[in-house]
Amino acid sequence: MADLRITNLHKRYGNVEVLKDINLDIKSGEFIVFVGPSGCGKSTLLRTISGLETISSGTLEIGGRVVNDIAPSKRGIAMVFQSYALYPHMTVFDNMAYSLKLQRASTAEIKQKVEAAADMLQLRPYLERLPKALSGGQRQRVAIGRAIVRNPQVFLFDEPLSNLDAALRVATRMEIAKLKESLPDTTMIYVTHDQVEAMTLADRIVVLKDGVVMQVGSPMELYDHPQSLFVAGFIGSPKMNFMTGADAAKYNAATVGVRPEHMEIQPKGKGVWSGKVIYSENLGSDSFIYVDIGAEEAVIVRQEGKASYHAGETISFGPQGNLFHRFDAEGKPLNGGAVTPPKAPAKRPANAAKEGVPDKGVVGSAGAVAMPASSGKKPAAKGPSPKAGTIKSAAARRAPARKAPAKPKA
Ligand SMILES: Nc1ncnc2c1ncn2[C@@H]1O[C@H](COP(=O)(O)OP(=O)(O)O)[C@@H](O)[C@H]1O
Ligand SMILES: [Mg+2]
Repeated sequence: MADLRITNLHKRYGNVEVLKDINLDIKSGEFIVFVGPSGCGKSTLLRTISGLETISSGTLEIGGRVVNDIAPSKRGIAMVFQSYALYPHMTVFDNMAYSLKLQRASTAEIKQKVEAAADMLQLRPYLERLPKALSGGQRQRVAIGRAIVRNPQVFLFDEPLSNLDAALRVATRMEIAKLKESLPDTTMIYVTHDQVEAMTLADRIVVLKDGVVMQVGSPMELYDHPQSLFVAGFIGSPKMNFMTGADAAKYNAATVGVRPEHMEIQPKGKGVWSGKVIYSENLGSDSFIYVDIGAEEAVIVRQEGKASYHAGETISFGPQGNLFHRFDAEGKPLNGGAVTPPKAPAKRPANAAKEGVPDKGVVGSAGAVAMPASSGKKPAAKGPSPKAGTIKSAAARRAPARKAPAKPKA
């Protein structure tokens, strides 16, 4: 059993502070993911835990013992890196047995431990192969197996899947999820820049930015209640749409955020926002519609199933119920009570008042509030909702206004 406690941890290289006052309590058996953009300090934090890097100030406790000055080999940890670096001339069995041989374990013990790890990782059929006769995913599993046989109390992974192609990444991610089930008492800390990996694997996610912990919480806590614009934009794919200026002023906020999957297409002129379709991506299972509402960035609207819109077509949309997030000028979430819904237009269609009523019980975030009544603009005539399922000609497609989102499909 190994709880981990990090208290006021700082890491400096010369006068560059890479980790700034990190405080974390990790429970024994938890699967924790450190996520954040490249260069934010994830690997450095992991390496200070492993002992490969020294701590400039603060304390690190593993299993109740301060280990700041304890050698990596005495910390009860094992680490798996992005590059698996197997011994090319050794079989899978020998690669996995290597550390046990160094510890002078008996032949019987080595065999038992290597085979148990191989079973856990579906590597039994490959034990006599050399690494060159394995796929990248299998090699990474051997690297994990090599760590498992050491029976660590704490398992550290640094982007173990980033060298694998997309399909293998998903398959190996499932292996790691299974590993977590089969080693319930082993604390696991996993570093990735990929929020999909974080969402799918973690019990709790630690979001880092510039060496600072931005938020700690379960995947759904971060998704539903981001405590900053940064976390709101980092967790979720495609990322949350942010509207500022007059678009946010409608919500008495400096920024209003709506996830693409929480945007709902409404009859023409009835949504909070309207704009021309720039581009639409139809993935079969769902569709992403990029809309120019006159803001800096295109707004992404996700529709379930097939929904093709022609470039140039005007659509109107808004958040479903109160599934939106309000932020102040500092990027902090605003609480629900603070908003005054915009004044209803002088002449409203009879059903407009009803549309302005938020769906009780579907509050998406601490910052979620009642949505403004309709668009606050003129009560436009009811236009037909664009039909889903119409096939769009390829020629109608234009280059996207911005990079197409990486689609998490797992
Ligand atoms: N040995 C080092 N000397 C100086 N700066 C370093 C060293 N190692 C990492 N850094 C800096 O620390 C920051 C965090 O790096 P790292 O932890 O590797 O980021 P991440 O793993 O999140 O991509 C980066 O700005 C990096 O340049
Ligand atoms: Mg790194």
